[in-house]
Amino acid sequence: MSLSAAHNIHDLRRLAQRRLPKVAWDYLERGAEDDITMTANRVALERILFRPRTLVDVSARSLRHTLFGKTYTAPFGIAPTGAAGLYCHDADVALARAAATAGVPFVLSTASFVAMERVAQQAAGSKWFQLYMSKDRDAAERLVKRALAAGFEALVVTTDVPVGANREYNLRNGFTIPFRINARNVVDGLLHPRWLTQVFLRTLLTDGVPRFRNVDSEEGGRIVSKDLSAFRARRDALDWSDIVWLRKIWPHKLLVKGILVAEDARLALAHGADGVVVSNHGGRQLDGARAAIDALPEIVDAVGGKIAVLFDSGVRRGADIVKALALGADFVFFGRATLYGASVGGEAGVVRALELLRSETDRVMALIGCTCVTDLGRQFLERPDSV
Ligand SMILES: Cc1cc2nc3c(=O)[nH]c(=O)nc-3n(C[C@H](O)[C@H](O)[C@H](O)COP(=O)(O)O)c2cc1C
Repeated sequence: MSLSAAHNIHDLRRLAQRRLPKVAWDYLERGAEDDITMTANRVALERILFRPRTLVDVSARSLRHTLFGKTYTAPFGIAPTGAAGLYCHDADVALARAAATAGVPFVLSTASFVAMERVAQQAAGSKWFQLYMSKDRDAAERLVKRALAAGFEALVVTTDVPVGANREYNLRNGFTIPFRINARNVVDGLLHPRWLTQVFLRTLLTDGVPRFRNVDSEEGGRIVSKDLSAFRARRDALDWSDIVWLRKIWPHKLLVKGILVAEDARLALAHGADGVVVSNHGGRQLDGARAAIDALPEIVDAVGGKIAVLFDSGVRRGADIVKALALGADFVFFGRATLYGASVGGEAGVVRALELLRSETDRVMALIGCTCVTDLGRQFLERPDSV
């Protein structure tokens, strides 16, 4: 099946599952523990229904949308995903380039297999940097300064990771970064020869063992590969004073990712953030956390337009994007949808995923009788108060 035969994100998902060894598939697809929150994200989005208007002239509709003074071709972008290099060769560059082609923003993860400087050099377009930090402010400051020097436009600090998530499948699959070869993943790789040659071996030959390049450091004239331990040390001790500190050292837009209640959105506003990302990390952190879309209305109401409210978690259709915007989100992001595309067709696969989401979003806008993103509102939704 070629990319053009993938008619929606679900098709790309099925194709991705066939291509990937279990260790990579589980890391992409699963949530945490019993996948309760991951499932809740989809159930909650599907439960929301539209109140479509009819006989509205929608012939001049547009998805163009402005955020932080910059106009994008669509009201969505690519969320940060660590270890994306498991899904195609140089995935972080592929994702960034596809976003640039589509005219939408891309957020690079701290946990990328490609160093941020190379992503910045090799992909045009609007790029933001996602920061994982701990109480070790020196490590965070080094990353922030590099992101600034490399030209990243916004900093997204992820806060829903005070401790690691309980992802038992990673333990069963023997999944670690830097990637360690064991009997299980050798067999798994051999059963997926296309992935083995085009992704794993290609990365090995061009770039060495897949590892987190942003946290590599130069010691005594040679590059020492690190795991994420510098970013895990006492990360359970972070609090709002760390946002105040980041605010002082980062001069551009600062966003707090992982907000699920109105109280925290108000605190983000009070501590100098320019925006929040309403997110439960795609159900990958606290299993049993509320669906992100259920949290969205109270957060939009709490900040009252004073800072931007971005949304992710569970988006698979253009309709999901329109629902989040109608509930008041300023912009919508997705993680898995574009990684499915990357797994199937590299950069072209990501472009395909973005095209599918764009055409679905455009169709839904026409079918509900809305010509531009700024006209979307709760009037287009059935019982938005009970969301
Ligand atoms: C494979 C994978 C890796 C991720 N890595 C990160 C990360 O490094 N930093 C981060 O803030 N969020 C990370 N996320 C969460 C995404 O940024 C986003 O919140 C989530 O994917 C949204 O849910 P969705 O996948 O249903 O769209 C990751 C998600 C996935 C699927």
